This record gives sequence, C-alpha cells and structure tokens, in this order.
Amino acid sequence: MAYICGKLQLRHGLMLAPMAGVTDYAFRRICRMMGAEYTVSEMISAKALVYEQRSRNPAAARSAPLAAIRAGEHGHALQLFGSDPEFMAEAARLLERGSYLSAQAEELPAAIDINMGCPVPKVAGNGEGSALMRDPERAAAIVRAVVDAVSLPVTVKIRSGWDENSINAPEFARRMADAGAAAICIHARTRKQMYAPSADYHVIAAVKAAVDIPVIGNGDIASAADLRHMAEISGCDGYMIGRGAQGNPWLFAELTTALEGREYTPPTPEERVAVAAEHLRLLVADKGEDIGVREARKHMAWYIHSRPGSAAARAAIMQAERAEEMLDILQGLLN
Ligand SMILES: Cc1cc2nc3c(=O)[nH]c(=O)nc-3n(C[C@H](O)[C@H](O)[C@H](O)COP(=O)(O)O)c2cc1C
Repeated sequence: MAYICGKLQLRHGLMLAPMAGVTDYAFRRICRMMGAEYTVSEMISAKALVYEQRSRNPAAARSAPLAAIRAGEHGHALQLFGSDPEFMAEAARLLERGSYLSAQAEELPAAIDINMGCPVPKVAGNGEGSALMRDPERAAAIVRAVVDAVSLPVTVKIRSGWDENSINAPEFARRMADAGAAAICIHARTRKQMYAPSADYHVIAAVKAAVDIPVIGNGDIASAADLRHMAEISGCDGYMIGRGAQGNPWLFAELTTALEGREYTPPTPEERVAVAAEHLRLLVADKGEDIGVREARKHMAWYIHSRPGSAAARAAIMQAERAEEMLDILQGLLN
C-alpha cells in the first residue's frame, strides 16, 4: 500500500527525509524532478519561530525562511522541534496559515511533522527531538496540542528508542497515534547509535504491527535492493530517503523504476553534470551567488564523489567563490 495521509495519496510512497542544512528548496526541487513524491522541511524551532514573529523584526527572522513553500511543492510537510506543547501549537498555527515574517508560502503545508528523533546534544539536551522518546507523557501532550491547534494532519518522526536498553518505538508510536498522530516515520536506530551501525528494519515491522496509521520506514536506503529489503521485513507504507540522495538524486528514479518493475538506466556523466549545474543554478537563484555558491560546495562535492579525478576537483570546489568557477570545474571532469 502506498502512503496515504489526510487527502494526500502517494503512488509509491517515496519521500525525501528532512535534513537540516541539506534539504532546502533547490535540493527538494531536484529530488522531485527525479521522483520524490513528498518532502519535509529542515527542522524549525517552534520557540524561535514564535519569538521571531512576536519581535515583528523581519531582520531577526532566521527560522521563518525554512518554512517557505514554493509553487510546485505540493506534498511538502513542515517539521517543528520543541518540547513545550504551547509553543509547538502556536508555531503550528503560524505554519498552517502560511504567513509569517520573511517567508512566503506559495503552497500550504501537507502536514505538520514533529521531530522526536534528532540526536544532537544541543537539541536532545534541551528535552527536544529524540529526548521526547524518554518522556512519552510530554510527547503525547505535544501531539495533542498540535492536533487541536491545526486542521492539517500531524505526523511524528521518531527513532527506535533512546538506547539499546530502551527500544520503545512500538509503544511510543501507539501512544502518539492515540494522541492524534496521522502517521509515524521511524528512523530505525536508537539515539545512542546516531547514524551507525545499520538500521534495524525489524523495529519498523514492530511499529507497523503496533499502530493502524501509516508507517514510513527510514534508514540506509541507498538502492532498490535496500528498499525491497525494508519492504519485505517491515511492510511499511512509505519510504523516507536521506543521505542516499545526497549527490545522487537519481536514487528516486532508480526506486521508482524498481517499484514499477521497469529497468533503470543510470545517468551518463553528461547528465550528472547537467543536473549538478541545475542544482547550482537553483541555489544561486534562491539564495544569491555568495550564499548559494558556499552552500553548493558540499552538494557539488557529493555529486562528483568517487568519479575519476574527483579529489583535485573537490579541493577546487571547496575554494570556489563564483558559480561560473564551479561550472568550469564540473565541466572539466567531463573532458
Ligand atoms: C545532515 C543531516 C541532517 C538531518 N536533519 C534532520 C532534521 O532536520 N529533521 C529530522 O527529523 N531528521 C534529520 N536528519 C535525519 C534524517 O532525516 C534521517 O532520519 C537519517 O539520515 C536516516 O536516514 P538515511 O539513512 O536515509 O539518511 C538529518 C540527517 C542528516 C544526515
């Protein structure tokens, strides 16, 4: 079954995972071109968003731009993090209305997603993100508050648990569903594991067995074989892809063709360079040349990773200040 959330129905359930500093508009657009059917914003601090709006000072609005949704981004969820139900509810109301300082929403969000998986100490140390998995009471209060505040579907992104001794994803997911969550995405690792070793898809299966709402599996999908493996073990309703798409947005095309039983033709070097160049163009158009080129550096380095001659090109990309320079370096790899 493909993922269904609210009025939204996805054909294959292929979703781009939220990644702070990575999944901005330019990258989301590239992934959509390749077959991503659903995207999630970078995480947005509920408290920061609310305070910014109260300040009425557009120059201070750093969180709001993360919530901008562009035309063509139908099926884009906005992700909030925080630990205070009231702030989370107020932030969700702002996002639902789509009008806030310094950001223009050309489409309304498909859902409000709540981050209960972020492992970084700055977030978890504040009782936010993955720390909420140790406080199901508060987590459920947040979900209830946000569900009461908006008419959008409210989804929750979790991990397997805090550590190997406290794997509570199935009970926790049931509690979030009882509190009104419309879907659960599970990154099948504990907070302690951060990003390694490999995800345990059996925990996704246990979550799927525990709830009646859609379950989206996440963790380590880098090929059609990985997706099949997750599907077979877990029976999940959707697939969320993060790092596998970095420098390889074609992964979405590969997964689409596999799910449709068609043969996948990988991109030629020329096609790879053309897509990288389009990504750079979108970044520069969106953020201006100074910031756009700086932010393009990591993406361009990912595109050329493991290509012949990439070490020298990577070093040059990391120094490039102008889009023209970057394009020349990419073209140089073809010659
Ligand atoms: C650079 C980076 C930033 C991330 N930022 C977020 C975030 O803002 N919100 C979130 O829920 N997960 C975030 N994640 C976790 C991913 O959404 C995903 O759960 C994780 O990378 C596992 O999936 P993957 O193996 O397909 O990458 C981030 C991951 C990375 C690598």
